[in-house]
Formats: sequence, structure tokens, C-alpha cells
Amino acid sequence: MCGIFAYLWDKEATPYLLNWLRSLEYRWYDSAWVCVINNEKNIYLKKATWRVSNLASKIQGENKNLNNFNTWIAHTRWATHWKVTENNTHPHFSNNDRFYVVHNWIIENYIDLKKELEKKYDFYSDTDTEVVAKLFEDLFEKDLVTTLKKVLNKIEWAYAIAVMDKENPFEIVWAKLWSPLVVGIWIWELFISSDSNALKWITKEFISLEDNEYVVINNTGYHIYSGEEKLNKKSEEIEHNEDDDKLWNFTHYMEKEIYQMPEVYGNAISWKVNFEEHTIWSNTLEKLWNLDFEKIEIIASGTSYYSAWVGAGYFEELSGIPTTIHVSTEFKYKRHFIDDKTLYIFISQSWETADTRDCLKIVKERWGHTFGLVNVVGSTIARLTDMWLYTHCWTEIWVASTKAFTWNLAVLLLMALHLWNKRDLDYNKYREILSEMESLQDKMTKVLANANKIKALAEKYSKYKNMFYLWRNLLFPIALEGSLKLKEITYHHSEAYPSGELKHWPLSLVDENFPVVSINPTWKFYEKNISTMKEVKARDWIVIWVVSENDENKNLYDDVIEIPNTSLELTPFTISIALDLFAYFTANHLWREIDKPRNLAKSVTVE
Ligand code: F6R
Repeated sequence: MCGIFAYLWDKEATPYLLNWLRSLEYRWYDSAWVCVINNEKNIYLKKATWRVSNLASKIQGENKNLNNFNTWIAHTRWATHWKVTENNTHPHFSNNDRFYVVHNWIIENYIDLKKELEKKYDFYSDTDTEVVAKLFEDLFEKDLVTTLKKVLNKIEWAYAIAVMDKENPFEIVWAKLWSPLVVGIWIWELFISSDSNALKWITKEFISLEDNEYVVINNTGYHIYSGEEKLNKKSEEIEHNEDDDKLWNFTHYMEKEIYQMPEVYGNAISWKVNFEEHTIWSNTLEKLWNLDFEKIEIIASGTSYYSAWVGAGYFEELSGIPTTIHVSTEFKYKRHFIDDKTLYIFISQSWETADTRDCLKIVKERWGHTFGLVNVVGSTIARLTDMWLYTHCWTEIWVASTKAFTWNLAVLLLMALHLWNKRDLDYNKYREILSEMESLQDKMTKVLANANKIKALAEKYSKYKNMFYLWRNLLFPIALEGSLKLKEITYHHSEAYPSGELKHWPLSLVDENFPVVSINPTWKFYEKNISTMKEVKARDWIVIWVVSENDENKNLYDDVIEIPNTSLELTPFTISIALDLFAYFTANHLWREIDKPRNLAKSVTVE
């Protein structure tokens, strides 16, 4: 799971390259390198473990003149299998020091290939990619493209592979299967990356490569092929929001993105809802409901999965449509019953998540109806779904997901309401929720105005290494998401349970060092949650109470986070802000590296 960036140019480009690497670093940050070749067939290669800043210091320290170098590749790595060492850092090269290879994803048959190649070549790293470099030497015939085809026949997926040949310095060849790859075009300059985000400073014009296509970039331009056939692919415009990378006055991107949640909600609904007429307008949804399905299945991972879970609640409770949710990693390997009476919804913030994309392929192969909530224009999954709605929350820079969660909730709620209205269900209730949605953005902003109180609580509880988050019914996944955020960035342990489950076993873990966050903002289940909390208080253990303003029982508990009153269906929007802030302030107090939590990558492009 790495970020690749390459281009051909005729001048010193180190500062640009390092900048572009930094723009990929939001996703991967275990090691980085830069490799360049010039017309005299000289190679300059620098590698560094961990941050791009380490690589920058190394390069700047050497102060080497790279003016006449023209073929550049750079890469940030997230270690999927092997240790973070310079030897394991790409690019990997052949024994004859001729072929330099960079690769995303995993070559699944690399062990067998390596056993054979070890008889002839010395290996210096543990990686599968080094096997590919050795294969180029072993199978070389005529030129890079001919050899590439022979190499691709040997390796078992998946990959985005770039290869440079020292003997032919003004050429890079790229091939892809499953792993994303885009060509960026800016007047006469050509760039390639695994992420259009890395090219956003340069161009809006992109060509996305499909599986089994390969591209040759040389001094005559770019040439895309599928097998022997030369393709004439059109470029498309991909917009990026320049504000994404600006931190403004915030300390971390996570903080900034939490503060954007009310605006993201506003954007998600503004162009679809007419509050005066109580209507939701969407051509895409009109077409979608014409598919005449009887049930919905939603497939996603991580935070997107928790938003799917809330969405399932909306579809069942509001639209009366049976809805099942699946974690992508599990759906892939279960027995499938795909039929044309089911709508399959896929959610992914990055839209490159391999597990979710694999599920989409499974459903498509069996002719299921597919629909996507898409954040990245031109991304792999976006191109595969039958219909989709684009996110208007722009790129999330920090690793864990925040504002995309809000956007997903907003769109799933709109979908459920739209469908509800079409099915002629209780119109009064529909109007009630819709009217309340008009003031929701202000209520979300009000939670942010309360940030200092949440900060004080987070600091007070940051010494506890374990925590439970409890809620029940429709909105239990918000407890799961709050707990996920806490453990993801603080490295403290936390779990979420439906509160009714507490006495079935989790209570045995609770003691004076194990606080319970109980979420109880609405009248529905209020009494039941109170009685669960009494089970905790009867033992004198700690309860943090997340409740609506003016809750009459708030003095009974140790500490309180107050949330503006809303109906049950809208509480996920406000509470998720409060819980994200709680996790953020806890991590900040513990001096965690919040935007780059240990061991994680933003976009999980391998299985
Ligand atoms: C958690 C988080 C991850 C992602 C998951 C799916 O904060 O960010 O759990 O939600 O990896 O990613 P996408 O939505 O890009 O498919």
C-alpha cells in the first residue's frame, strides 16, 4: 500500500518531488525514496525510513546537482509485510543494476518465484518487489515493453508496477491490475501517480488506467495499450479543493476536519432539499428507486461500515426496507446470494479500498444492482458502480475518517427519506424530520462551541486505559464509531456494546479504572439506559453521561457531555462530533501523533 509518483522532465525537480511526496504522505508514511536517471545513464537514488522529512534532509544534506536528470520516480511506503528498513524500501533493482522497479500491492506467488531466482541472483531484501526486478533481468528480451509482458505473465496479482531501464533512460513503463493508477497531463509534461491527489498542484487533467492496461511514457509522449492494441483514451477533469491541505488555525488536520462536519452536512443536503416544499430532489435517486428492489445490502469497512450501519437503521425504520450490512473483508468470502431484487450499496471514503472494491466486483459479476457513495472522482470503485452520488466533503487529510462519516450519514438519511416519501408512508413524521434537518447544522455547530468542556473531560479521563461506550438500538453504531476513534488515535483500549448487553458479561470488566461512556440523548430507551447505568453506579464505578441539554438526571453521574436536543434519527450527527472531539483531545493530551497514528494507512489498497 504505497504512493507512487513519477514524471519525465528536463530539469532539477527535487523540491517538487519532495512536495508531491508530502502530499502522498497523508496516506502512507513508513519510508520514502527518490530515484532519477539522466541521459548519461547515471542513477541517483536516495532512500529514508519513516517520514518524507528524513528523505528531504538526506537529499538536501548532499546538495547534489541534479540539473541534467530527467526521469524521476518517487514513492512512499506503508509496510504491508516486511520491516521498515532501507533495504526493504523501494525501488528494487536487478543484479545487473539495470532495471529499477516500484510496485504497489502484493505479488502472491513471489515465494515460488524467489526460490527459482535465488539459484541465479543475490537478494538483498525481504520484499516481493525485488523478485519483479530480478525477473526483468532474467526475462529481458528486446525492450522494456516486451519484457514487461513476459514478467506480467509470470506474476500473480495484484499490482501497479513502474519500471525504468538504465539503458533507455528516457522511458518509464507502467502496468496495473487492481491497484489504481492515473496519468496526469500538463501541457507537454507527463506525470503518473497511484493517487490523483499527488498531482493536484500540477493538473486537473487525468487519464485513469483500467486493469490490464499499461502505459509507456517517453520523449514522444504517452502511449496506452491493452494487450497489443493501442488505446486512444480521453482525459477527464478531476477537481481538487485547494483548502484541503491548509491547516488554517488548527493544530491538526483531524481537528480541522471535525470542525468542518457541520459544513459538510450543510453541503450534503443543500442542493437536494427544499425545506419550504418539504421535498428532496435527486434525479439519481429517482432512477435508483425505479429498479424496484425489495431489500438493501450495504458493504463497507471501518468507519464507512459504521455509517452503513446507521444507514441500515434509517432504511429499515424510516423506509421499511429490510437492510443487511456487511464488512467488506467478510462479505468477500461468504457464500453469495446475489439477486436482482436487492440493491447493493458500497461506501468508501477513499474509493480505493481493496476489500470493498473486491466485493463490488463479486456483485457486478453476478449482475447485481450496484450503487456507491463516492468521494473521489475517477477512483476505481466510482468507475465500477452502476450509479453513485459524489461526496461534497473533499479530501480527508488525516488518516482516520471524520467528515466523510457525516456526509455518509446525511446522504443515507436523505435516501431513506426520499424512499419513504415515495412509498407513501407516514407523511407527518417525514415532514417533522425534514423540518428538523433545517436547523441541524446550527446544532452541530453548537456542539463545537462546547469543545472546551469536552476538552477538560478528555484530559481528566486520559489516564484511563480502558473504556466502554454504550448505546442501544438504531444508533448503537455511533458508540462503535466513538470507540473506534478513541482507540485509533490514543492507543487506549475501548469497546462498544449495546447497553442492554452490559449485564450479560461486559460488566465483569468494569472497575474503578474502567469508565463507561453512556450515550442517552433521547426519550426513546431513556429509562432502559438509566437502569443500565444504575448497574454501574451501584458498584460505584465511573459513568460519563452523554445526554440532551437539561437532562434532569445529569447530577447522578460523574461527568456529562451535553448535546442539543434532536429527534433520535438526527442524534448521530451531533454525538459523533462530541465523541470525535473527546478522542481528539484525549490523544492531544497524550502527545500522540494524531494525524498519522501508528501502523495505519489512509487508503487500504491491499487485501
Ligand atoms: C477509521 C478509518 C478506517 C476506514 C476504513 C475504510 O477512522 O478511517 O476504518 O474507514 O479503512 O476506508 P474507506 O472508507 O476509504 O473504504
